[in-house]
Amino acid sequence: MSSSATSHADGAASPRKREALELFRGLPRHYDALSAALSFWQDPRWRRALVSALAPSSGQRVLDVATGTGMVAAELLARCSDCSVVGIDQSAAMLARARERFVAEPSTRVELIEGQAESLPFPDASFDALSFTYLLRYVDDPAATVAELARVVRPGGRVASLEFGVPPLALARWAWRFYTAAGLPVLGRLASREWAQVGRFLGPSIRGFYERHPLQQIVGYWQQAGLENVQVRRMSLGGGIVMQASRRAESGPAPGADAQADARVVGS
Ligand SMILES: C[S@@+](CC[C@H](N)C(=O)[O-])C[C@H]1O[C@@H](n2cnc3c(N)ncnc32)[C@H](O)[C@@H]1O
Repeated sequence: MSSSATSHADGAASPRKREALELFRGLPRHYDALSAALSFWQDPRWRRALVSALAPSSGQRVLDVATGTGMVAAELLARCSDCSVVGIDQSAAMLARARERFVAEPSTRVELIEGQAESLPFPDASFDALSFTYLLRYVDDPAATVAELARVVRPGGRVASLEFGVPPLALARWAWRFYTAAGLPVLGRLASREWAQVGRFLGPSIRGFYERHPLQQIVGYWQQAGLENVQVRRMSLGGGIVMQASRRAESGPAPGADAQADARVVGS
């Protein structure tokens, strides 16, 4: 396993980015276990669905953006033993945990890089596939970020993402609101000071994100970025959202707004 660092000056970052950098500084130690427990063990299932949606095939080079402690990268390698994975994240603390996970792996198989999703340090079309997890709420311009992610995927390559969602059905939405407003802050407080902050932050962050960027608009960001056959899968009544698409093979203008109607939304 090797690493190369793109140093990042927190001082030059936007308030949203500074908040994300600060939030993840204190989380890596118990991140894997607590993120699973606080989602009632749904998010490992969502991560597996994300990797199934990406379906990496033999010999492919995959970029995992917002790799964090490397859980998606590990799942990618488990599914495709002769793929190579590059994990990138802006948090040095989260990456340190990922480095522990992959300490026995050769650098030809896993490479971890500190860097920004908004300006990836890779040439155009340099990956066969790209995954990203819980990223878009932390960036200032989700549409521009999706375009930057699509830029590094070769024509015909696959892109898949996992984000939290707000359940669309009234009863499930009520239960989600109750849990994120009352349950999550209490459980977070029981875990640690850092997780108490996550418990308070997560519900308003997810709700606010979809108020600013409704799901159909996010589908449009993908299409404008040159991604086609966009599919949206709501999981666990909509608490998790897995999206997948392919990078358009031909170059040319992005489709207009009516293309948004093409996105297929399924629930499970
Ligand atoms: C909730 S964690 C997800 C980690 C992991 N992918 C998983 O499956 O749990 C979100 C990660 O996104 C990273 N992140 C947030 N904004 C980013 C950005 N603009 N560029 C790169 N990484 C970012 C954070 O540092 C954090 O590690």
